[in-house]
Formats: sequence, C-alpha cells, structure tokens
Amino acid sequence: MTPEIGKIIDKMSLADKAKLLSGRDIWSTHPLENHNIPAMYVADGPHGLRKMDSDVAELHGSVPATCFPTASALSATWNIDLIQEVGAAIGKECQANNVQILLGPGLNIKRTPLNGRNFEYYSEDPHLSGKMAAAFVNGVQSEGVGACLKHFVANNQEHERMMNSSNVDERTLREIYLKGFEIAIKESNPWSLMCAYNKLNGVWAAENQWLLTEVLRGEFGFNGFVVSDWGAVNHPNRAVQAGLNLEMPDNAFSPDIIVNAVKSGDLEEERLDTVLTDLLKIILKTNELKKTKIQVDLNEHHKLAVRTAEESMVLLKNENDLLPLNHKHIKSVAILGRFAKQARIQGGGSSNVNPFIKENALACIQAMLGEDTEVHYLPVYEPLGDKYDTSDLAQAVAMAKKADVALVFIGLPDDFEVEGLDREHMDIPESHKALIREVAQVQPNTVAILSNGAAIEIEEWERDVPAILESWLAGQGSGLAVTNILFGKANPSGKLGESFPLRLQHNPAHLNFPGFNREVTYHEGIFVGYRYYDTKSIEVMYPFGHGLSYTTFEYSNILVDKKELTDKDTLKVRFRVKNTGKLAGAEVAQLYVRDVVSTFPRPVKELKAFKKVYLEAGEEQLVEFELTKTDFSYYDDRQSCWFAESGEFQLLIGSSSRDIRLHEMILLESSQQRIPHFDRYSPMRDLLNHPAGQAFVKNILKSFGTSMESDKPEDIQARAIFLSLPAVKAVNFSHGAFSLDMLDSFLATLNE
Ligand code: BGC
Repeated sequence: MTPEIGKIIDKMSLADKAKLLSGRDIWSTHPLENHNIPAMYVADGPHGLRKMDSDVAELHGSVPATCFPTASALSATWNIDLIQEVGAAIGKECQANNVQILLGPGLNIKRTPLNGRNFEYYSEDPHLSGKMAAAFVNGVQSEGVGACLKHFVANNQEHERMMNSSNVDERTLREIYLKGFEIAIKESNPWSLMCAYNKLNGVWAAENQWLLTEVLRGEFGFNGFVVSDWGAVNHPNRAVQAGLNLEMPDNAFSPDIIVNAVKSGDLEEERLDTVLTDLLKIILKTNELKKTKIQVDLNEHHKLAVRTAEESMVLLKNENDLLPLNHKHIKSVAILGRFAKQARIQGGGSSNVNPFIKENALACIQAMLGEDTEVHYLPVYEPLGDKYDTSDLAQAVAMAKKADVALVFIGLPDDFEVEGLDREHMDIPESHKALIREVAQVQPNTVAILSNGAAIEIEEWERDVPAILESWLAGQGSGLAVTNILFGKANPSGKLGESFPLRLQHNPAHLNFPGFNREVTYHEGIFVGYRYYDTKSIEVMYPFGHGLSYTTFEYSNILVDKKELTDKDTLKVRFRVKNTGKLAGAEVAQLYVRDVVSTFPRPVKELKAFKKVYLEAGEEQLVEFELTKTDFSYYDDRQSCWFAESGEFQLLIGSSSRDIRLHEMILLESSQQRIPHFDRYSPMRDLLNHPAGQAFVKNILKSFGTSMESDKPEDIQARAIFLSLPAVKAVNFSHGAFSLDMLDSFLATLNE
C-alpha cells in the first residue's frame, strides 16, 4: 500500500470503505470530506465527451462537445499520431467540464459484422485495435484525464449481453480477445478499465479473479482501477474478491453486502484495502491533475474532427478514376439519399455525443460548388427502417439522369446500429439498394457514399456502381470530409480495419452467433476476420487493410538485417515506398507474418506492424519495422505460455492483406523447447520425436517383422497403421513381456 493512501485507509471505517467501492450516482464516486477524498466524475466517450447536463439520473441530454469519428472510422486512419491528437482533444474537453475519467476507448474485437456496437470498436485484428487504443489512451491521459479500456472481455455481441456466457478457449482468448488489451495496457498504462457485462467461460467478468487479477494485473501489469460496466455487478462481495475496484452506478445494497461479507468472514478486510488503494490512487491523482481555467478551442477541435474524418474514409472502388470530381466540368449534380442532409455521424446508445456543430454533406457540397452549379437533392428514404415512396424513387432517377453526376448517400439507418441490439442481417435496407441500383442504371457517373459503422453486404449492386466511398460514422466533420474527398481537396488514405465479406454466411462466427441457452461458444477460435478468409482462400468483397488513393504507390527493396535470428534478437525490416502518381497522398504499409510450418494450426498471415507514410508526388521513403520473438509466437495453452517455434517465417509486406507487394523469408532459431508430454494414449508416431521413444518404436516394429526403413508397399501400409496406435497397445502386443507399469515408467523417463 502506498504510504499516504495507507494512512487514509487506516483511518477509514469499514462502512466508509464499502461506500467508496460503489458510485454515488450514475456518474460520480462518493466524496469523503472527513478523509479529504473528493468525488471523481466519469463520462462516456469514447469518440467525444458525453457529459450529462446534470448529475441526476438522466440518460438524455449532454453538454455540447466535439463529435469525432467513431472507432471503426478512427482505426481506418491507421494513424497513431492522429488518434493520439484526438484523444488529447477529448481529454481537454473533459478537463473543461470537470470530468476525470473518460469511459473509452472500446476495443472489443469485431467477431461478427452483426454486433450492434461494432461502430464503437476498432477492428477485427488485435494488433490494430491495441495500437489504436494505446494511442487514444496516451492522448487522453496526456491531458491529466484517465482513459478507460472497455469492455473486458469477450463482449462481442449485444444479444443477451447481461446474461450470456462467452465461451472461449484460452489460446483464442490470448491471441485474439485479450491481445489488444494487453498491447494497450503495456503501451499506454491506462488509469482504468471497464469489465464487461457478460460471463467469460461461465464466470461473470466482474467476478472473474483469473481475468481481473491474475491476467490483468499479474501478467499485463495493469495498475489502474477496474470499474464495472453500468449494472454489471451481480454479487458485490465476489466482485471485490475477484479484483473489481468500483461498482457503477450507485447500488444502494452493495455497501451493506460488502460490510456483511467482511463481518461474516467471507471477505477479508485487507482485500477491501487492496482494491481501495488502486481506486484511491487514481481518484487522488486525477484530482491533483484537474485544470480549472482551461480554454478549449472548439474551432480547432472541429478542424481536427474534419481532418480525422478525411483520413478515415476508405475509397473502396474507383473505376476509370471517376473520383476525384472536377467541379469545373460539372454543371449539375444530383444528391440523393437522406443521409446527405441528415447525416449519420455516430451510432446509438451510451456513446452518443452532442456535437456542437452539425454540418452535412449537402450543405458542404453546395457551398463548395457555388451558384454556377445546379444541385438537386431528394431524401428518397425515411431516416429509420426501410420505408420509401416509389414516386420519390422515380423522381430521383429522373434527377440523376439529367445531372452530370449522381452522389448517392446510402447505408445503415440509425435503428440498425445501436447499443443493446445486434443487426439481423448484413444488408442495407431495400430502399437504399433500390436507389443505388436504379440511379446507376441511368447515370454512368454514379458515386455511392456509405454511412455505416461496420461491414455491410455490397455484392448485389457493386458491379453497377463505378465508385464507392466508405464514409463510416465519421463524426461532426464528416460532411466536409466527404466533400473534400469527392472533389479532390483531400486524397483518401483510409484502409479497412475489418474485412467486408461477400455475404454474412461467409463470416467465421456465422454458425455460432449469437448462441443459445445464454451461451455463445467461439468455435471458430483464432480464425477471426481475415485470419479466416485468407486461410480459407475465400473471396471477399474488400479485404482487411484495403483502401484506394488518388495516387499510386510502389514498394521496393525489402531488406532484413539478418536472415537467421534467435528469439533474443530484434529483426529489422526495411523497404521503400514511393508515390508514383501525380498527387500527394498517404499509404498504409502493412507487415504480416506467416509461419511456414507449425505444430499447431495458424492463420496464413497475421498483422504485426504498420505505418502510415505521407508522400509528395514522386517522393520516396524508407520504412523500417522491428520484430521480436513476440511477433512470431502463438499461445500454447498446454504449456501456458507464448511459444516461438523454430523454423521458417515469411514476412509479407503490402497494401492490404490481399495485396502483398514484397516478401522475405527468415529462419528463427528458438531457445524454447516444447515440454515433452507422453502418455498411454500418445500415438506411436509421436514417440518418434524422442530418441528413446524412437528406439522403442523401432524395436516393436522389428518384432512385427518390419522396419521404419523398408519401402515395400505392404510395409508402408503396415507401418502407417502401426504408427497410429496409442502407446498402450504395445502392452497388448507384447504377449505379457511388457506390462502397464513398465510402460508408465518408460513414458515417465521420456517426459523428464
Ligand atoms: C455501456 C458502457 C458505458 C456505460 C455508461 C453501458 O451500458 O456498456 O460502454 O460506458 O453504459 O454509460
């Protein structure tokens, strides 16, 4: 216990201690004046400050703030410095509003496109998620405000989020679902973390000691406080025992339950002191770091919101360089689809920010084009659901036909992407599809601009549309950002942080989502997103990491500083990226690692490094990545450790997971040994991996009148059958000469 805090806690009554472990109300902790402990205020995020107007139990109405792009869009920037800047801007707004902890970022893995909260999460890949989260946290905390990683862990659906159990094997947890948290904790030291609503393998996340104490603190080195998701605590005493520091919001019954648990001996008071110490450390720290006279330049934040939105948008398709549009050649534009005016800038639920500026693409395009260009607009579809009038559609088509270009705004309505509810399918409404299909038939210069926070199905109409821009839910700057990209004031540089499969049925979680009987089992294991699509060689609509630019990039000169390395070495990988087009632009260079041969199944590639490179036309830059043992390892759940296996690894460098431009092979000499594990049912074939086992197998083979060396067809066949037998069968075949005891002691020597 830190001495200062120790002294405070020593003076606290049991009742005071228990009181402090749950909130005072929805958004703050209890102040204890007699101990000089102030209240600590928390507020949602994550893509902007959502501070409620009042401290009372209100769920609507928050202070005006900058609404930045949501997490799907943030991660599509692949720009660590930019995300840090966004975090810092939000941190400043927290300071200006007396908020000490921002409840974000959310970094749950996008296991299925249907998760209703996918817009709040970064990616299907833990490396990208972890790096983005770390950047965001570093930004927020640089302003003296704590960030809060959420939701820990395996909270990958909204369906039954408060009652189901996510059943995930340990390897999958470590490699996919915990990995992003691990990276973020190690690279940004977040001051808090929110545990999830769901159970993990049958134990509530809020009561899971393995998760909250052994892994989180013991292994990842987390030293902030753990707060429950709002209402996630079912047994306050068990939660404290497991490592929960703060239950939110207030729960009138919890303090008594905790006091009684201590009195009855179910909970030790020292346990309370421990969890209280971690909480108090942050309450006192954030109190010290409060800035009272902070001036926030909201106009600057709006500019940042626009820049971030621009960098996040992904040009999915651009046939015959239809984009950028040259406004000098355009006399009339048809802008179709309600989202052009009633922009979807964020998703629904607790993350909903009250933007201080509401711009839309229609107004921004009109302002940009000026009076000489005719702009015609029709909303066509309703804001929610799938309603439209066929006469509106006919009018829209006629409008599009007469114009030089049609900009069609489509995507997912507000009620499709909302906290608490998963999507039922991956499609956009029929009203949106009809609009894009019919317009594209009469207008060759049709651009689809998508508003959605997660992957959608596009295949049905993709071929008809020459250009598609994924504009995400890109915050209050999205209208201007779309305009700048469409008309070439900004060069698109976003890349997908999630694969767009052709159909929902192709998603690896499809048959195991959302589960039943309050259980969802992650049978697809580590094969999430591109790890599955690429390993299975399944055609996708747009692969992970995909995104076009108005310029072109060339990759060359891959160079590694060693072709053979040990697991103590750092490997340096260098290559060059050149802007070979006529415009300045940015490319996201991605490095994937492929384990050529491995004992356990592994994906054909995994993202291990990336860099966004800004290049003037004709400019070339050297990119350098460093890889260590971690980047070659997988989690071996039998040995309970990360394991780097000796052998060849291929480094794949490219512009998306399916557009690999450079590769290089290296050889890893690992010092890690697999601990032998032979038992009665180990196949004879496995015994060959051990010198003594090999001699044993050869002897038995000899007694069968054959050998390992013979290449007679009958011997080859007999050997195949023999080697598949479990070791215990040697006892049966020995006619009494070899007993079970003898086998067990022999196996014990092999296992030494
Ligand atoms: C959400 C959290 C959020 C909290 C407070 C919960 O329902 O899951 O993400 O931070 O409410 O609003």
